[in-house]
Amino acid sequence: SEQDKLERMRRDFVGNVSHELRTPLTVIKGYIETLPSLVSELNATLQKPLASMATQVARMENLIADLLWLAQIETVEGERKENLVDVCALLSTVAEELRFAWPDRDIALQLISVKRILGDERELRSAISNLVVNALKYSATGPVSVKWLDSAVGPVLTVEDEGLGIAAKHIPRLTERFYRVDKSRSQQVGGTGLGLAIVKHVAVSHEAKLLVESQPGEGSCFRLVFPASRCADPDFGD
Ligand SMILES: Nc1ncnc2c1ncn2[C@@H]1O[C@H](COP(=O)(O)OP(=O)(O)OP(=O)(O)O)[C@@H](O)[C@H]1O
Ligand SMILES: [Mg+2]
Repeated sequence: SEQDKLERMRRDFVGNVSHELRTPLTVIKGYIETLPSLVSELNATLQKPLASMATQVARMENLIADLLWLAQIETVEGERKENLVDVCALLSTVAEELRFAWPDRDIALQLISVKRILGDERELRSAISNLVVNALKYSATGPVSVKWLDSAVGPVLTVEDEGLGIAAKHIPRLTERFYRVDKSRSQQVGGTGLGLAIVKHVAVSHEAKLLVESQPGEGSCFRLVFPASRCADPDFGD
């Protein structure tokens, strides 16, 4: 339909533009990195702006990587390859990586649902790490709890924090591209607002429901509820 055609054009456009932005950005990054060695006695006043340029280039690289990834998972819809993914192993790996990056934070893992579900490993990994990184980013301290549990409808991934929380009026809009609750606050933690758009997309492609509960000042809980039909183990629910 016309709607589908427009949507496809938007995706292709975003994908192509993001891709084209990469090359010039790489060139700029190269100059920023080598400049200090080219100018033997680099004027001290130049050091701060150079460091700032490097930071901004890194942010732009992250943004482009997210845009490309989103465009990619949106495009390959029809030809996705699904396998049995060991969710327990995936959660352990992601938690380990994030504990390394946030050594002073407590990431608690509880894995008590089926080992494997039918899905796309890269997509699932991306959704999990986006949720856990958000939980870490939007809570200054306090534990982050990640659970893989059983429910009446199917296995549930829960990512919970005791951080800033989100006011009710923002919750329906969180999965929109570039939507951030508090621009100034988000600016400090360097978000681009694509993470939950990616999570939502992964949820839809796995027929999972994304549920968000949050209390400002108390914390947030994000849930991905997968259908039991995606479970590898036939005795799920017993
Ligand atoms: N666990 C959380 N606690 C509080 N606010 C959250 C949480 N997760 C997301 N948010 C809010 O939702 C917004 C959108 O999240 P999203 O992950 O899409 O973008 P981001 O984290 O800003 O950037 P990025 O693209 O790097 O993930 C965030 O800017 C933040 O305001
Ligand atoms: Mg995020």
